[in-house]
Amino acid sequence: MNDRVFFEWVDSMSVGIPEIDAQHRELINILNRLFVSVVERDKDKVTIEILDALIDYTKTHFALEEQLMEEAGYDSLEFVAHKDTHQRFVEKVGQAAQKNLVEGKSISFEMIHFLRNWLRDHIMDTDQRYAECLKNSVATRKWEQTANAVMLQKQNAVPKPWWKIW
Ligand SMILES: [Fe+2]
Repeated sequence: MNDRVFFEWVDSMSVGIPEIDAQHRELINILNRLFVSVVERDKDKVTIEILDALIDYTKTHFALEEQLMEEAGYDSLEFVAHKDTHQRFVEKVGQAAQKNLVEGKSISFEMIHFLRNWLRDHIMDTDQRYAECLKNSVATRKWEQTANAVMLQKQNAVPKPWWKIW
């Protein structure tokens, strides 16, 4: 495998909301892991675990985007169309997992390229459309504050090394 990253984050993908950008980066990371797993012909168990992670994270992320769009009063037609594309993506990843798990077929390069291209286009086009509306929304700002607080809490919850307990 060459050194080129399969799916690279570029700044033009930013929607200007740091927490959402961070989640998009995480999705990209998971897809890169899936790609490596397929290239290196990992055991099916490894690949299916990454696919599971992709499905889980995608669902959480999409649900958040949808919640923020709703709270921000995003255009209802755009909202419905956006939700619909989310749904179709989840179905597509689900189909890949199903093939892998039930039919024992490996994930094809075609599928993995499809997932990458879909996600890249979605972030760079569909998600950009909500950027302005969400950035100016009080609900989004409130959510960002909560998300930051949760992150800080997590950081502080890291157990101290024993020599720092006293
Ligand atoms: Fe989206």
